[in-house]
Amino acid sequence: MQTSAVACLSRRSFLAASGGAAIGAMLPVWPARTDAAASRHLVAGRGRAALVGASYPETAVWSYNGAVPGPEIRLRQGEHVQITVENQLAEETTVHWHGLRVPNAMDGVPHLTQRPIAPGETFVYAFEVPDAGTYWYHPHQRSFEQVGRGLYGPLIVEEREPIQVDREVTWVLDDWRLLPDAQISDDFGGFMDASHNGRVGNSVTVNGRIPETFAVRAGERVRLRLINAANARIFGLELQGHRPTVIALDGQPVEPHEPDGGRVVLGPAMRADLVLDMSGEPGLRYAVTDMFYRDLEYRLLDLVYEDAPPLRPHPLDAPLRLAANTMPEPDLAAAERHEVTFGGGMMGGMMMAMMDGRQTDMRAMMRSGMAWAINRVVASGHVMEPFLTLQRGVSCVLAMHNDTAWHHPMHLHGHAFRVIGRDGRPTRHREWQDTVLMAPRERVDIAFVADNPGDWMFHCHILEHQAAGMMGVIRMA
Ligand code: C2O
Ligand code: CU
Repeated sequence: MQTSAVACLSRRSFLAASGGAAIGAMLPVWPARTDAAASRHLVAGRGRAALVGASYPETAVWSYNGAVPGPEIRLRQGEHVQITVENQLAEETTVHWHGLRVPNAMDGVPHLTQRPIAPGETFVYAFEVPDAGTYWYHPHQRSFEQVGRGLYGPLIVEEREPIQVDREVTWVLDDWRLLPDAQISDDFGGFMDASHNGRVGNSVTVNGRIPETFAVRAGERVRLRLINAANARIFGLELQGHRPTVIALDGQPVEPHEPDGGRVVLGPAMRADLVLDMSGEPGLRYAVTDMFYRDLEYRLLDLVYEDAPPLRPHPLDAPLRLAANTMPEPDLAAAERHEVTFGGGMMGGMMMAMMDGRQTDMRAMMRSGMAWAINRVVASGHVMEPFLTLQRGVSCVLAMHNDTAWHHPMHLHGHAFRVIGRDGRPTRHREWQDTVLMAPRERVDIAFVADNPGDWMFHCHILEHQAAGMMGVIRMA
């Protein structure tokens, strides 16, 4: 598997190369910044960020308001918001509010829902947020490079009645391909990445830093909101000595449960809200490791316990279940069923597909840098005819088949869907998601009501796959 030339270059390897880590140099996880007024005005531009740490040069990035991640936008459920986006980049951009069920014209897809925002221009996004949860925002214009250079931020919609915790924390995870001088490698849009597992990098950050530690207090209850903002890296996090409870996926409440095998798996764009009771010993540390890619496991950071007596003698005994959001329930008995097949990629066999209105084979696709198809159509260029039209209000099941040798996190705009089946078996939690990770060859059934009118993107959120053809449009008429 072509994962990365340097298996997860961590801050430790940077430090080792420069002669060792002093304890005082260890970087904690920094909170994402919040400032209500500032977060309503986003300026996309060039900036610098201390991704690796003080003993390294800052990394040249593209960012919102000069920070990676951009400001944490915090809204209340039901709120109307206006967010002004100012483009100070040298190229066009847009902002997409990932997972929010906004009106189509506010969805931020260039040439489909709006004209791209030209350099020097501003655009005002205005919408209401019907659902609470953990979301994020990012450009939808050449996103494999714009997101990859640091344009993204967390967006939290607070519940009307939040659950009781001692502390709430957001970790925005990202993965970078850094050169030894801590600068971003320029090789965006390469065909190797596009036709394999995407642009997996070598340096993982939490809230824009390669972290060493996260300070905790014994006995406290933390709500941890995880957001995977990486172009391509899939995370499989395990928390040594701890038993996280998943309370929401992609922002949507789920029956509180321990993740399978204790591992929290997040494909690109996916989120999980965890409740963590800090059950470790004061003064000790516990590793958080990413186990997703076999033989490329690494320690993300350590939970470091303060040397103080536990906050309380027993774990907090408060309910964990979140109130449901406002999605209509799909009527499975009456639902329309549509097959959606994903094809292409290396080791995908010789696929024939339509590209630019012509039958092509894999070799011709590759010559034009394309690698993937949905229902044998390769998305190239801007204007896209819908591959599926649904009447407004209809319940629908998409029976998806990943007929490739690679993982794909499939994302539908403007809606959340229930994941109802995997390889023919019903799922345990029938979780609501907006992005579902499909394993190689897997079949996944999702169900939703087509209640939000407009043309909606449906694409793989490995951004190199999206750019190489793995997207389409679903029209809700
Ligand atoms: Cu996170 Cu099409 O988007
Ligand atoms: Cu993909």
